[in-house]
Amino acid sequence: MSVYLGVDIGTSGTKTLAIDSSGKVLAQASASYPCYHPKALWSEQDPEDWWKATTKTIRQAVKRARAKAADVKALGLSGQMHGSVFLDRNDKVVRPALLWNDQRTAAECEEIEKLAGGRKKLVRMVANPALTGFTAPKILWLRNHEPKNFDKTVRILLPKDHIRYRLTGELATDVSDASGMLLLDVKNRRWSRPLLNKLQLDANLFATVYESEDVTGKLTPAIAKQLGLTTDCVVVGGAGDCAAGAIGNGIVRSGIVMTSLGTSGVVFVHSDTPQADPDGRLHTFCHAVRGKWHMMGVTLSAAGSFRWFADALCKADAAIAKKEKHDLFEELTAQAANVSPGAEGLFFLPYLSGERTPHADPLARGAFVGLTLAHSRAHMVRALLEGVTYSLRDCLQIVESLGVSAKQIRTTGGGAKSDFWRQLQADMFGKRVAEMASDEGPAYGVALLAAVGGGEYKNIVEAAKVTVQFTDECKPTAATRRYYDRGMPVYQGLYDSLKGNFARIAEL
Ligand code: XUL
Repeated sequence: MSVYLGVDIGTSGTKTLAIDSSGKVLAQASASYPCYHPKALWSEQDPEDWWKATTKTIRQAVKRARAKAADVKALGLSGQMHGSVFLDRNDKVVRPALLWNDQRTAAECEEIEKLAGGRKKLVRMVANPALTGFTAPKILWLRNHEPKNFDKTVRILLPKDHIRYRLTGELATDVSDASGMLLLDVKNRRWSRPLLNKLQLDANLFATVYESEDVTGKLTPAIAKQLGLTTDCVVVGGAGDCAAGAIGNGIVRSGIVMTSLGTSGVVFVHSDTPQADPDGRLHTFCHAVRGKWHMMGVTLSAAGSFRWFADALCKADAAIAKKEKHDLFEELTAQAANVSPGAEGLFFLPYLSGERTPHADPLARGAFVGLTLAHSRAHMVRALLEGVTYSLRDCLQIVESLGVSAKQIRTTGGGAKSDFWRQLQADMFGKRVAEMASDEGPAYGVALLAAVGGGEYKNIVEAAKVTVQFTDECKPTAATRRYYDRGMPVYQGLYDSLKGNFARIAEL
């Protein structure tokens, strides 16, 4: 038997999947860890937590799949993108990693644009403008604010690539994840020497870039022993979580759009050419499909907004739900489903950790607008779910304005498991929204990449064709769709009216 592992090092936890040669899921395991917010707009994690969760879930998944050591032929890594792991010469982390949703680097984004010779020149070099979540601004922040830590740093790795380094001893990354560092020449799929020179960053700080399905190394003897695997187990390039989730859902050709409702929300399209949004609102990154690209818009707090609502405002209900063993999110969603579309004029802006698409505004804040005495908690939940979905529609509008066709939407992530939220997407976008048969997220995508690296399939396009199936399709309901068509300009106008006040709040 051949078994392939996919490991996704996410923000709320790590998930490991074991699949067989046909792509069937044999077992899974997950482990969670905390995220730290030492200051407003800061977001950090301890890479040691990722490592513990990775080794624990690999062992559990292999055991649950009843696989023998020699059965496990290959492993693929995925993870939250953009995070910065700074290592010293002894391979110790010099400080906690700054994450994708950390917003401390606005000044460094300006610095990068200036050093690059302006925004247009920057986009020409790396296909994207400087955004606070990307990795390069985090590196400059370290240099500007913690120079001693910067001087100690000899390697800078993305979250999954730090795990790879510990598993294999190889300093490697893949094209899709590397794109989010803002240091990759996305068009030519290699580090941008011109930009590294302008930013005065030594190329030796960074890992070697591979295509996602290529083998980057094997487990070291010590790690193979610790995990109960063999040193023949190869580790493939893998992918950032967005590209990994997309290939897991068969987004390996043009015409299909994927939405993802995890902590962040993503609207993702495949592209045969490295087509950059001239206004820089969408990200243009390398895809995990060899020689292809993708564009995407990112809503920073998607299902993360719902989690915040539950944590901040529903503590008592959460305790009861835990005791009675039911799901708090399902209960809140069922209540929201009884409220009419539009939540009686209540709107929610999901900018709880600033925003990326379409506003690229680290100072943006979340808001409920339109509250009256008639509104209950159920209205607030409905407005919250609608607000996150309006935000995805904002991204989708940009995608379509670039001439990309979006005939069908495939949706993934924790939020996509909700029937209500899937139907809400169909009504909001006015399009058919399909649920995936096996919605295992990024871990599944990189398990497929592992199967390619292990020789099971010719390439990831072939693997995705064989294995990816979707079942149910939600169709838009005409009346609800019309309501959201009228609500969209109101939602969009709210950011425009509040923008100045967000900046003033930051100055208080
Ligand atoms: C993508 C992004 C997020 C993280 C979340 O650009 O920042 O989707 O990858 O894990």
